[in-house]
Amino acid sequence: MIITKNIKMADVIHLNYHTLSVLNRFNIYLGFGDKTIEEVCNDKNVDINFFLEIVNTFVDKEYFPKKQLQTFSVSLITDYLKKTHQFYHEVKVPEIESLINEMIETCYTQKENIVLLKKFFNEYKQELLNHTQREEEVVYPYTLSIEKAYNQEKIDSSVVDLMKNYSINIFKTEHDDIEEKLYDLKNILIKYLPQPKNVQLCNKLIHELFILEQDLNDHSVIEDKVLVPKIRAMEKHITKKLSK
Ligand SMILES: [Fe+2]
Ligand SMILES: [Fe+2]
Repeated sequence: MIITKNIKMADVIHLNYHTLSVLNRFNIYLGFGDKTIEEVCNDKNVDINFFLEIVNTFVDKEYFPKKQLQTFSVSLITDYLKKTHQFYHEVKVPEIESLINEMIETCYTQKENIVLLKKFFNEYKQELLNHTQREEEVVYPYTLSIEKAYNQEKIDSSVVDLMKNYSINIFKTEHDDIEEKLYDLKNILIKYLPQPKNVQLCNKLIHELFILEQDLNDHSVIEDKVLVPKIRAMEKHITKKLSK
C-alpha cells in the first residue's frame, strides 16, 4: 500500500508504528487527531512530497523511487539525514546503553560478559559518532556548496578549489559500512552469550539493535543511492560549464 497525502496521519502509525520516529524527524509529533498527511504537513511547513517519499521508503522496503528522491534539494535531503543522525545519538544509542547497563546491574552470573558487551558497544558508539561527524562537518557542507554552484549562473572560482580537494567519489569510497559491526554485536548476543538471567532484557536489547541496524541501512541507502548520484551529476555539469 502506497501512502498518499489524503490518508490520515494517525493511520500511518497504525500501518507501521516504526514510522513514529520518522515523523519526529520532520518535527511531527503525536496528537494530530483526524488530520490528513497533507493537513499536518501544511501545519508544520513540511515538504509533503519529500515526506511521502521518505515514509513510503521506510514502510515498504521494495519502494525506492531513486530518481524521484534525487529531485529534492540537497538541503532537504541533508536536513533529513542530520535529523536521523540526531535520532541515533540522542534516542537509540542511549536506549541501548541503558538496556546494557540494566543487564549489568541485574545480572550476577554474566557480569563479565556483559561488561565486555558494553565495551564493544562503546567502541561502536564512538565509530558511529566519527562517521556522522565526518558527514556533517565535511560531506554535507560540500554537497550544499556544489548545489549552490550548480544553481548559479556564473560559477564561483571557490568551488573549483573545493572540487580539487574533495569529490563525492571520495565520499563514496570512504563511506564505511557502519551497520556491519552492529551485526557482529547481535551475533555475540544471539550465538555466544550464555543466556543471562533476565531473558526479557536480553530480548529487548536484540530488538533495539535490529531496529537501529535497519534504520542505519535505510539511512545509508539515501546517502549512497540518492545523494551521491545527485551530487555526481552536479559535479559533472559544473566541470562541463567550467571547461567552456
Ligand atoms: Fe549519515
Ligand atoms: Fe553514512
